[in-house]
Amino acid sequence: MRRQIVAANWKMNLTLQEGEVLVKEICGGMPALAPHNTVVIAPPFTHIAMVSAGIAGKEQVASGAQNCHHEAAGAYTGEVSAAMLNSAGVAYVIIGHSERRQYCGETDAMLAEKVNLALANGLEVIFCCGEPLEVRDEQTQNQYVEAQLKAGLYHLTAEQMKHVVIAYEPIWAIGTGRTASTEQAQDMHAHIRQTLNAAYGDATATATPILYGGSCKPSNAAELFGCADVDGGLIGGASLKAAEFLGIISAMVGK
Ligand code: PGA
Repeated sequence: MRRQIVAANWKMNLTLQEGEVLVKEICGGMPALAPHNTVVIAPPFTHIAMVSAGIAGKEQVASGAQNCHHEAAGAYTGEVSAAMLNSAGVAYVIIGHSERRQYCGETDAMLAEKVNLALANGLEVIFCCGEPLEVRDEQTQNQYVEAQLKAGLYHLTAEQMKHVVIAYEPIWAIGTGRTASTEQAQDMHAHIRQTLNAAYGDATATATPILYGGSCKPSNAAELFGCADVDGGLIGGASLKAAEFLGIISAMVGK
């Protein structure tokens, strides 16, 4: 059975103290997870140690980071490396989020370097892709997303791909309250799986989890996760409230 993952992306939200309360509430209310379920919590860097302590002993709950730098080490003031994340006990790192592509000028070449460093340092990668609204309006989203995956990810070997999760996040659905329909999500996820098949063959295509992200909430999670090729979600706004995040986790458990 393919891995199913619900990952919280806190973005630049919550103080350490607020985060601590949230982690307690999430862990306290966590439903029994199926063996192939994982919950990831990706707070700001300053909160990672707190999250790791809060989830200690919960085998299927892992800590994540929202980014790592594309160089291994050096004079990059304010940056955090993949090796540092590994040394801090981080299990997952989100790479290529549209907000970082857009606001921090992250290029495909930089993302490919980040992916390489993350894997070399023992991290699991959550690689984000997704088209802006104008691309969706032109109906060229399949080519757009395929190009992102080829440029940032598909240089990896099939062995390395075992440590990669793909997150499809249409930019027009992120933080907008406008969710992709189940048909739009399923169509794109099936397309992504096809590109995996073409690049790596059936085993990798079948095993790679593909998460949906973009205004996912308890009220639409079950329907989205019910799609054959949707293997969980990357959750922004709704991961900041325990009841909402727990509702989304329950939708994964119920799939
Ligand atoms: P959202 O964000 O759930 O607030 O739309 C998702 C994401 O950007 O990962």
